[in-house]
Amino acid sequence: MLVSKGQGVLIPILMKRTHHCSELRATDQGSSVTLSGWIDSVRDHGGILFVDLRDREGRTQIVLDPTNDGLEAQFCSIKPESVISVSGKVEKRLGKTANAKLATGEIEVHAVELEILNVSKTPPFPLDDSADKVSEDLRMSHRYLDLRRASNTRILRMRHKASKAIRDYMDKQAFVEVETPMLFKSTPEGAREFLVPSRMNPGAFYALPQSPQQYKQMLMVSGIERYYQLARCFRDEDLRADRQPEFTQLDIELSFIDREDMYALIEGLMKQVWKDVIGADIQTPFLRMSYFDAMNRFGVDKPDMRFGMELKDCAEVFQKSSFKVFSSTLESGGSVKAFNAKSLADITQGELRSLEDSAKAHGAKGLAFIKCEAGEWKSPIVKFFSDQEKNELNKLLEIEDGDIVFFAASEWERACTILGRVRLDAAQLLVKRSKLTINPNEYKFLWVIEFPLMLFDTEQNRFVSSHHPFTAPVVEDIALLDSDPKAVRGQHYDLVLNGVELGGGSIRIHQPALQKKVFEDVLKIPKDIVESRFGYMLKAFEYGAPPHGGIAFGLDRMVTILTQRSSIRDVIAFPKNQKGQEIMTSSPGFATEKQLKDLHIKAVQPVKEEK
Ligand code: AMO
Ligand code: AMP
Repeated sequence: MLVSKGQGVLIPILMKRTHHCSELRATDQGSSVTLSGWIDSVRDHGGILFVDLRDREGRTQIVLDPTNDGLEAQFCSIKPESVISVSGKVEKRLGKTANAKLATGEIEVHAVELEILNVSKTPPFPLDDSADKVSEDLRMSHRYLDLRRASNTRILRMRHKASKAIRDYMDKQAFVEVETPMLFKSTPEGAREFLVPSRMNPGAFYALPQSPQQYKQMLMVSGIERYYQLARCFRDEDLRADRQPEFTQLDIELSFIDREDMYALIEGLMKQVWKDVIGADIQTPFLRMSYFDAMNRFGVDKPDMRFGMELKDCAEVFQKSSFKVFSSTLESGGSVKAFNAKSLADITQGELRSLEDSAKAHGAKGLAFIKCEAGEWKSPIVKFFSDQEKNELNKLLEIEDGDIVFFAASEWERACTILGRVRLDAAQLLVKRSKLTINPNEYKFLWVIEFPLMLFDTEQNRFVSSHHPFTAPVVEDIALLDSDPKAVRGQHYDLVLNGVELGGGSIRIHQPALQKKVFEDVLKIPKDIVESRFGYMLKAFEYGAPPHGGIAFGLDRMVTILTQRSSIRDVIAFPKNQKGQEIMTSSPGFATEKQLKDLHIKAVQPVKEEK
């Protein structure tokens, strides 16, 4: 008998679930079962309702026959997304009615008892893959519905698997998970910070940590030896597809190790994560490339190694060229770089303009090119080239019919960066034309190493750390710290995967004198600021700091790649939008006058009082 339960009143759950909606098979025929979940869809076959019941594990077809007592009264509540419990008998589906696509497609449950636990309104968008086309704002303002979609539930569960694989591996390697404070103070990692006013210390502010960098180094001085944490980090940066203001790092630090130990540890970790999460066997050891080679050959410090189209240096070809744009750049110490976008001569005017815009956004004055069509070189600049220059260029770039070659003339780093960008855009155009395959299931890990320790910042007229000021110089280069800081290489390493920087870290400075020298003499940080910001650290290093090093990975970025998504927002349960808002809860919100007063703060903008 079907029992109707009252609605709008709180009723205890009387029917205990016996199975998930993924479990029942033909061998369960005849069993009495109880399932609970959401109504995925309803089909009316001449009065008999076929309901797909869904829970987090799967779907099962339920058959509701209105001739059963009491059921008819509830038909108006059988609406998609309503929550029900249903008891009934498992029956084998007959012949053609079986559904091979569904794990439970051999059976259906003939309802005997039904409990409507909550009736749902009609959702504002369909809860299937077609919702990918719905505006992100609408989905995010109803994120609880968006996450009900099987594809999103799957992502959250894969993220869980990744965290678990990480914890399992780190535990096996004798690491200790330690939590570090969320209320911290300003750090020098470079990004703008989120400040938190201190009620008990008028005028003082905490900063949310950009990373646990300093605390993890203190843990090494404490003798923990092997630390890790899945740490929430905060950076008030402009958002992009691979950046969130609040994100999760797998943060690692260990003592008595060198770079080789680090590479081996991390390669083992990635092997385990890829195996546990997606069953893939990745090749180790990973490739290694110096920062110089990455820039010189690919125009970027995080090259996607799944395709070639490498940049070539054209200095020898154009040293004496009558094309002044190139020869004068070379004369003044700059570079002329080029790459052959194989078989992209059919590029449209619009596409060419967009490549040029992209080059200009990276500081190019123009984007010279040569198209090779029907045995002829077509280009506004080719008239300036001698036959010898053409021959040499041909040899260098292996130009064939259907190719287009792009050039950049500028100082070395800029020329590389410009063409690095154009190379990526050109690759996308080739993929669109099916002339290049970039396999999403291919995982080309790469260590980028030998970064310069310092970069010269022309605006501030001083050196700044290329990673952070705790990175140790390569031992042979320490002597150059005074004479030629630019030439000093850092013991820094980045792990890059398919064009994405997954993580980065370094062997640290552990000697107080060297750390002080880097702060004061090289970075020119005033003594009093060094003392107030890092005094505790310099002091700690005087009490027996072991040699140590570490690394941190963007967990969100890692899961984005594992789940083959294009934005890290997809792999975060409640992400922020481009304006840093989480629109479901309307965060951030405004503070009341009273809250501000308690925090010793005055708002410049009028305060919106919450009702
Ligand atoms: P770094 O600043 O390179 O190093 O950060 C490490 C990794 O964190 C990820 N990441 C981000 N992910 C999402 N959104 C962001 N806004 C964001 N910013 C960074 C990236 C990056 O590679 N303390 C050092 C590590 C160390 O030296 O041990 C640090 O934080 O994947
Ligand atoms: P111009 O002689 O300045 O008209 O430039 C001739 C061609 O070279 C045009 O296609 C420009 O877009 C391109 N060009 C100009 N400056 C550069 C540069 N620094 N690097 C590469 N191409 C350039």
